[in-house]
Amino acid sequence: MFEQLALLPDDPILSLIGAFLQDNNPLKVDLGAGVYKDETGIAPILTTVKAAEHKYLSEQTSKTYTGIAGDMEYNHCIEQLIFGQQHPALQAQRISTIQTPGSSGGLYLAAQLIARSNPNSKLWLSQPTWDNHYAIFASANIATAAYPYYRIGQQTIDFEQMLNTLRDEAKAGDAVLLHGCCHNPSGADLSPQQWRDLTALVLEKDLVPVIDQAYQGFAHSLEEDAYGIRYMAEHLPELIVSASCSKNFTLYRERTGSISVLSSNSKQNRSIVSQLLAIARACYSIPPANGAAIVKTILMDEASRLAWQAEVETMRQRLLAMRTQLAEQLQQKQQQVDFSYLLKQHGMFSFLPLNTAQITALREQHSIYMVGSGRISFTGLTTANIDYAADAIAAVIK
Ligand code: LMR
Repeated sequence: MFEQLALLPDDPILSLIGAFLQDNNPLKVDLGAGVYKDETGIAPILTTVKAAEHKYLSEQTSKTYTGIAGDMEYNHCIEQLIFGQQHPALQAQRISTIQTPGSSGGLYLAAQLIARSNPNSKLWLSQPTWDNHYAIFASANIATAAYPYYRIGQQTIDFEQMLNTLRDEAKAGDAVLLHGCCHNPSGADLSPQQWRDLTALVLEKDLVPVIDQAYQGFAHSLEEDAYGIRYMAEHLPELIVSASCSKNFTLYRERTGSISVLSSNSKQNRSIVSQLLAIARACYSIPPANGAAIVKTILMDEASRLAWQAEVETMRQRLLAMRTQLAEQLQQKQQQVDFSYLLKQHGMFSFLPLNTAQITALREQHSIYMVGSGRISFTGLTTANIDYAADAIAAVIK
């Protein structure tokens, strides 16, 4: 039966982790996957996460099954982190949240939920977007189309074209995938005014946003980075949010995420949750417990929560410092490209305007790793390697 199977290429992002590990060059720099690294180049476990894990494990008495929805206390904590404690849609019980294996798991449930609700619905994705978005929605046989978002040449958001495309081509009942903050791969985010304008169009056209929130806390702050989600949840009848604790809790391999669905009323929400549980049961049964227990242990204790917020802010500040220094160094070291756009973007990623030959040269001649699109993750830069990286990037541009 397996003779017909084709050999597929490696994952364009996660395969870089293995390739980087195997490189023996002591000068190597990892600008590939979105994994936070500290000044020493280590992907750390946050101190608050380590402490919460220790507490949870020392108090754990059983490893019996949890429910399909995961840990209900975690679900409560995480939806308050996403929507804010006093959000009117939470108070009206119009939002339901279940735990998922990472945000990929949440997006998978979202795709299957859309397929069950409206199989003719098309999903609109930003051009460009995270590669895996296409694969996840294709797995549910959802038709996809791209809306213009980021002009790689000009390094800016093409908001007018985004609105025009959705206004002219999207149909009522279609879904629109948005990035809550720190757009992956461009780092170019919608302004509060653009979120409001987009919300008006989504309402007028009867579209359903699916918001991927994987980097809350890495653009401005935990509160500000939720602006778009909270505004949309206040003004729209329906919305899906898939959130991740991989980055802001450094829980990557613990697969800790959530899906929240906003609908018109709590009765509809019960049906939606029953569908999500059925989809999850047929796929992974129950989500892994460890990460969610760590997150709730932190969020339910005021002192731990404040300490965690400070750690998120430290990660954000370090990335901002690396972004600023790389932009300044590239401005000084070459004249071909104006890199000041990097300072207007947020989070772990931005594009460098490099072609395939330049990206290959960086990898083969300098052991500098990045995604083939030219997306870099600032996470792998440190004060020790930033001169080397900037010199190499400037050299291939010249
Ligand atoms: C990334 O975009 O680098 C991260 O979200 C890791 C992944 O799963 O692709």
